[in-house]
Amino acid sequence: MKILVVGGGGREHAIIRKLKESKEITEIHALPGNGGMYKDAKTVNIGAKDIDAIVKYAVDNEIDYAVVAPDDPLVLGCVDALEKAGIPAFGPKANAAIIEGSKVFSKNLMKKYGIPTATYEVFSDADLAMEYVKSSALPIVIKADGLALGKGVIIAFTREEAIDAINSVMNDKKFGSSGDNIVIEEFLTGPEVSVLAFTDGKTVKPMISSMDHKRALDGDKGLNTGGMGTIAPNPYYTKEIADECMKTIFLPTIDAMNKEGRTFKGCLYFGLMLTPNGPKVIEYNCRFGDPETQVVLPLLESDLFTIMKATTYGTLAGCEVKFSDKCACCVIMASKGYPEKYQSGFEMEIPEEIEELVYVAGAKYENEKLLSAGGRVLGVVDVQPTLKKAIDGAYAKVNKIKFDNAFYRHDIGARALMATEEK
Ligand code: AMP
Ligand code: GLY
Repeated sequence: MKILVVGGGGREHAIIRKLKESKEITEIHALPGNGGMYKDAKTVNIGAKDIDAIVKYAVDNEIDYAVVAPDDPLVLGCVDALEKAGIPAFGPKANAAIIEGSKVFSKNLMKKYGIPTATYEVFSDADLAMEYVKSSALPIVIKADGLALGKGVIIAFTREEAIDAINSVMNDKKFGSSGDNIVIEEFLTGPEVSVLAFTDGKTVKPMISSMDHKRALDGDKGLNTGGMGTIAPNPYYTKEIADECMKTIFLPTIDAMNKEGRTFKGCLYFGLMLTPNGPKVIEYNCRFGDPETQVVLPLLESDLFTIMKATTYGTLAGCEVKFSDKCACCVIMASKGYPEKYQSGFEMEIPEEIEELVYVAGAKYENEKLLSAGGRVLGVVDVQPTLKKAIDGAYAKVNKIKFDNAFYRHDIGARALMATEEK
């Protein structure tokens, strides 16, 4: 079978490597993919947001099944357009992808169906929003309604910061029309957990839990990024908490989407906070997380392609989704300067013996050389029987990679390790 994967980062590389294990698959095409995938897929320079060109490519190349990985094409209706052209696809249709595409939608959904989340107010008028934060509790969280590359959330510790945030999002349009409306919500505390779940709109099968590290610098300092590293499983996410989340969050969300006439199929990402008052939803994503996928999929023992098709065809209940009981750690190697200004074009050498679990997020392949191209460049993963060993193993691999301009955190997994008995 010929498979098409839409997207071009480390998440997509991890998906492609897992799909390659499936015996049914004979060819994988990545749109646009990146140069670091040259051994795993045919990469074609069509942007992930160019829906018409993606559909045309899929039809012309007789693609049997497509996997749409990033948020933008999902929200723009890539799955709808592919299916209209007769190509089955993994991922939600646009009317369900709105669960990530609009925070106002997702907050209102949670309120309507009693799904635990931070209390909030929605504003479409900057003056009223500013009036509100003058007397709100601090810190307070301000979120742009629409997609903003994971940067549309501002935690304001003072009233001045809150006013500045409202100004830049609503008046200066820092995130364009994504800031036409904003959500202002209560600040929650507690460990964060990412749970990705397969669903066909009836059954939910959560994957192994994970923990992201969003800040750029060690000790959770510095700017927010797309994610600097992950570990799985997340030791804070116990069996009891998982059972509670299934009852109070996962099933009610699938049910709520059905009741709204927006059946969700694909991978639904639950960004949770384990607060003193129980688990609450911080955000939904309509897709696999990045870099969560880089630690979750290496632990998946069942066939990914079989599961993906089961979400599309509504047969997930009878489909095995089994994970290994090992642990994984992913350290992101970024270009110095990320998430602000950075340079590209640095030569990288990844020794062949560790290549299998190094996922390339941003690179070019030119004259048989791999050159960095992007902020987040590599996801370096190790899988081991314990979390401590996985962390040590990932950093040992980082030290074997030649990438002069690399910048990475040195404490991925440290907080999780404190929650385990290993230390
Ligand atoms: P998001 O893009 O919605 O995942 O938010 C980015 C990060 O901001 C989250 O991973 C949390 O660390 C933090 N955050 C978002 N909402 C809240 C909240 N209500 N209280 C505390 N932290 C939050
Ligand atoms: N790692 C967070 C996300 O994928 O949104």
